[in-house]
Amino acid sequence: MPALILSKVHFFYSPNKVVFGLDTIKSLGSEALQLAAKKAFIVTDPGVVKADLLQPIKASLESAKIPYVIYDRVEPEPPIRCVNEATEQFLSQRCDVIVGLGGGSSLDVAKGVSVLATNGGNLLDMIGIDLVKKRGAPKILIPTTSGTGSEVTRVLVVTDEKDNTKKVVNSIYALADAVLVDPLLTLSVPPKVTADTGTDALVHAIETYVSGNATPFSDILAEKAIRWIATYLPVAWAKGSNLEARYFMSLAATTAGMAFASGGLGAVHALAYPIGTEYHLPHGRSNAIMLPHVMKYNLSGNPEKYANIASLMGKGMEGLSATKGASFSIEAVQELLETVQIPYHLRDYGISKGDFPKFVEGAMKFARLFVPNPRDLTEEDVRSIYEVAY
Ligand SMILES: [Fe+2]
Repeated sequence: MPALILSKVHFFYSPNKVVFGLDTIKSLGSEALQLAAKKAFIVTDPGVVKADLLQPIKASLESAKIPYVIYDRVEPEPPIRCVNEATEQFLSQRCDVIVGLGGGSSLDVAKGVSVLATNGGNLLDMIGIDLVKKRGAPKILIPTTSGTGSEVTRVLVVTDEKDNTKKVVNSIYALADAVLVDPLLTLSVPPKVTADTGTDALVHAIETYVSGNATPFSDILAEKAIRWIATYLPVAWAKGSNLEARYFMSLAATTAGMAFASGGLGAVHALAYPIGTEYHLPHGRSNAIMLPHVMKYNLSGNPEKYANIASLMGKGMEGLSATKGASFSIEAVQELLETVQIPYHLRDYGISKGDFPKFVEGAMKFARLFVPNPRDLTEEDVRSIYEVAY
């Protein structure tokens, strides 16, 4: 084993408990009781309410005789305003355990309520790494899509409406006390959302796998996630009721989340954030658009890992050099995006080149993600990747 790896210290972050499997949401009541819940606070969004996913959550809390209050006004790309509003309600209603139910937005708001409720003050003062001083209120997170991995990470992403930028709180106190992953909740996710969220999970796995911060722990998780997503995303997209596909996509999103919770992300997310904010594209979609272009730029920085990605995605690698094999990873990703009907050029979305200076400025605000990225990037490099992606 190379001395470089032997000398490295590896960190692994994870929630206290992950309960994975069919019908696991039925155990919500007992999980809440284990956290000494007297009154639960459910954080969710109108889409989850409309899809009727609240019903089993309420039923489980009711059977455990835990009263609850519902905050169901989480907005996509959630503004800090949502976290403030929900926290006021959590405190005024004297709730003691938070249940986050939904996609990344609802789970991130739930984490925000947790840390703001115990720390007080302003969430803006917690933006950054390890700036949350006290443990948050107990929280149980339940994802309803297979993508963000937010349920298992220590970050929460909110939108600062003052300058329309994403702000990230990174703290171990954002980690859940319990996570319930129930693939049955994802059966009704429409094909487009399945494709976007599933690709987000793929980006998490790929970015963390090739990252300079990758660890043996994140590698193991990312490799499994890449293989499962390549195999099952097309099936989950084509046939939403296919339980096997949904099961493995749930597993993949959670393991990809656990991988990047320790290994971190890279330039795909950095370049995708400003597009998502400016054009109100879903997080997974903006990542999907940038993925093949950033990969192409990055290849030379970690050819072995990119060649492994190609192999994990089903490309025959026999007799190929790492450099040659690496290029097949882009082909594999493009084929997957085409299968689930995600166009991956900026022009396909009516995006104007006139916005590039804004995108470059926005991406440079996430330059910290360039540090572990396999290849260095200057402002000029960022601009040229947007050009190629056009
Ligand atoms: Fe993401």
